[in-house]
Amino acid sequence: MRISTIGCGYLGAVYAASMASIGHEVLGLDVDQKKVDDLNRGIAPFHEPGFEKVLQDALEAGRLRFSTDYSHAADYTAHVICVGTPQLIDAAGADLTYVHAAVDALIPHLAEDAVVLGRSTVPVGTAASLRERLRAAGRENALAWNPEFLREGFAVEDTLRPDRIVYGLPEDPAESARARAVLDEMYGTMLENGTPLVAGNYATAELVKVSANSFLATKISFINAVAEVCEATGADVSVIAEAIGLDDRIGPKFLRAGIGFGGGCLPKDIRAFMARAGELGVTEALGFLREVDHVNNRRRDHVVNMARQALGGAFTGKRVAVLGAAFKPDSDDTRQSPALYIASKISGRGADVVVTDPAANARVHAERPNLAVAEDAYAAAAGADIVLLLTEWTQFKELDPVRLREVVGTPTMIDGRNVLDPAAWREAGWTYRSMGRP
Ligand code: UDX
Repeated sequence: MRISTIGCGYLGAVYAASMASIGHEVLGLDVDQKKVDDLNRGIAPFHEPGFEKVLQDALEAGRLRFSTDYSHAADYTAHVICVGTPQLIDAAGADLTYVHAAVDALIPHLAEDAVVLGRSTVPVGTAASLRERLRAAGRENALAWNPEFLREGFAVEDTLRPDRIVYGLPEDPAESARARAVLDEMYGTMLENGTPLVAGNYATAELVKVSANSFLATKISFINAVAEVCEATGADVSVIAEAIGLDDRIGPKFLRAGIGFGGGCLPKDIRAFMARAGELGVTEALGFLREVDHVNNRRRDHVVNMARQALGGAFTGKRVAVLGAAFKPDSDDTRQSPALYIASKISGRGADVVVTDPAANARVHAERPNLAVAEDAYAAAAGADIVLLLTEWTQFKELDPVRLREVVGTPTMIDGRNVLDPAAWREAGWTYRSMGRP
């Protein structure tokens, strides 16, 4: 299949390279010349394990190229919209500017039998409105929705070996058959390998994506809410998570208590979902997501308060070491990062904050001039009055408490991700505190 991806950000670039790696001819289109040049040279514009190898192999095999010239799309059959849908600056809803621009840029170059597919996370109703946009421009091309579920850090794996493939198909039978034929060919090898296929209408496919992310966010906030109760009672949230997770109706994943979720998806998706429910007149249906968001924000502020108390009630003149800036390990993404939120808040209250992150140091340096950046955990902790572990990188999980004790000013550790062994750290002379554990 000849596939073009519109938008070569995180989603589009990984998708383009992954689809080329399973034998398709892929063209990645983007308006950003530098990004296109980098990708054509086999350079990843972001940190993602395994991506650069897949990219380089596909380029070498001659099945992948990137361009800013949308007229090349005329030679391709499936056009996959992979642009971002960020949160609006002044509201909770999703900004569809890039989705509309992608469709508009494509319209003049659509071959008659080409199919338009959407992969971006969008508010329910978007696919239907894009189909209208095509019709208004005199285009009869089939349009289908095909949401993605990739996690940063596992993006290639999740694209090539997804848990499920979802089709959101148009009502018109002939158009639906055309879209399905193209999708079946694109995902042929995955479907043959037994990947479950779930099909519904546009609204269903759009809602599958936001429902999945809202459920994951709810699971995290649920265990974090239980952590709050644990802190008031002396119970241990990690033991509770282990025990309830053994019930296979609940399952053990996404029950790690800590400083909550961040990133480019979960926070914005639950807010956009709530905003859309409001527009549809069913605000109360998703009222619980407001609480999910609140619990999530409370945990960040809780760490700030824990640190202030540990420092004797004020941050002024204190040196605070922050281990982690990315919203999760194996990523350089700092969007909505709880770690950076905490670091910035503490810095704003008068502390000297030194951050270190194995992948996001350059980003922190460029975007947060008020935060100092150190090479590694030992450099960050040198002379610090307190150390906060906020992103659970392996490097931090494996820190030597004895060695760190030698460089730190005051040996106080707040483990915001519950990943260190309390006994080992206390034995090495640390005052150790974590989230929802005695
Ligand atoms: C998420 C979804 O997992 C993915 O399916 C969707 O397509 C995009 O959004 P991602 O944003 O890459 O993926 O991150 P994920 O691994 O889901 O983690 C999200 C956040 O939740 C991170 O900040 C992580 O630290 C936090 N988290 C996760 C917890 O606090 N506790 C957990 O138990 C799990």
